[in-house]
Amino acid sequence: MRIGLAADNGNWHKARLRAALESLGAEPVLFSLADVAVVTGGGEPLRVPGFEDRLPDGVLLRTIAGGTFEATTMRLGVLHALVASGVTVWNSPGAIERSVDKAMTSLLVARAGLPTPDTFVFSGRDAAAACVAREARPGAPLVLKPLFGSQGEGLQLIERPDDLPDEAAVSRVYYLQRYIARTDGLWRDYRVFVCEGRAIAAMIREGDGWITNVHRGGRPLPWAMPAKAAELAERAAAAVGVDYTGIDLVEDGEGGYLVLEVNSMPAWSGLQQVTEVDIAGAVARGFLNAVRAVRPPRLVAALG
Ligand SMILES: Nc1ncnc2c1ncn2[C@@H]1O[C@H](COP(=O)(O)OP(=O)(O)O)[C@@H](O)[C@H]1O
Ligand SMILES: [Mg+2]
Repeated sequence: MRIGLAADNGNWHKARLRAALESLGAEPVLFSLADVAVVTGGGEPLRVPGFEDRLPDGVLLRTIAGGTFEATTMRLGVLHALVASGVTVWNSPGAIERSVDKAMTSLLVARAGLPTPDTFVFSGRDAAAACVAREARPGAPLVLKPLFGSQGEGLQLIERPDDLPDEAAVSRVYYLQRYIARTDGLWRDYRVFVCEGRAIAAMIREGDGWITNVHRGGRPLPWAMPAKAAELAERAAAAVGVDYTGIDLVEDGEGGYLVLEVNSMPAWSGLQQVTEVDIAGAVARGFLNAVRAVRPPRLVAALG
């Protein structure tokens, strides 16, 4: 099997995934999506570093690398072209698009009937201001999130219309969500890692404020995940169609959970500190299973 591992930054994750793939007998070629080119006029126009002669059978994506709207669009196009050529891509470009766009994630999670905080998305400041006037008040704010945000960056609490930044500051999309207060005085929520449809590991994240991302200083703590949290995370992963994912959950104050986020490029170094489960191993195994599922071993060739 010809396997590519697409990763840019994050040496820890890259090394873990590479070792896990190798321990399962694959020989991954590391490349960055930023180095894929399209060249027409002779041969395969998609030029993937390390696969110039023939496209890979599978690509495991750790990151698609940030950049401009144009660069991201091209990278997603490259992934779609790989899928169209029969290459197994984990996570699929469709799944990445659905989860990177927080509005689409909210829509899909809500449509699947899963509990999630009420969410309001508008493309203009007037509509957003009217929503804030209707839905928020001091002490009961809305959370404004960047549509493509990650790592807890750029979140703001909005209590009144005047708190809203101007359109340029939010790239003209206001993603607003009801703020869920923690009830026990601790800044805690939960991360569940789902792979191949199953919740395989989870942790509590405890922050010094309401944003608990590990990147923002949130501390991973072991968590004996209740069955209903596992089930909700698995259903959220299915709703968005992600093969491996980190799902953020928060307590609803009534003994249940709400889905906060579905990540298609999750980091798991924090989670790995508090779980026995080998996460990179599970991702590598699931991915290779998926590659093999579309390429059953050629018995005839083996016998011949
Ligand atoms: N509606 C909310 N109510 C309370 N806290 C929230 C809410 N949304 C997000 N948070 C906090 O902010 C963190 C980051 O939000 P999230 O939606 O996961 O975006 P990101 O992509 O930046 O991780 C969450 O893990 C949680 O701690
Ligand atoms: Mg998150």
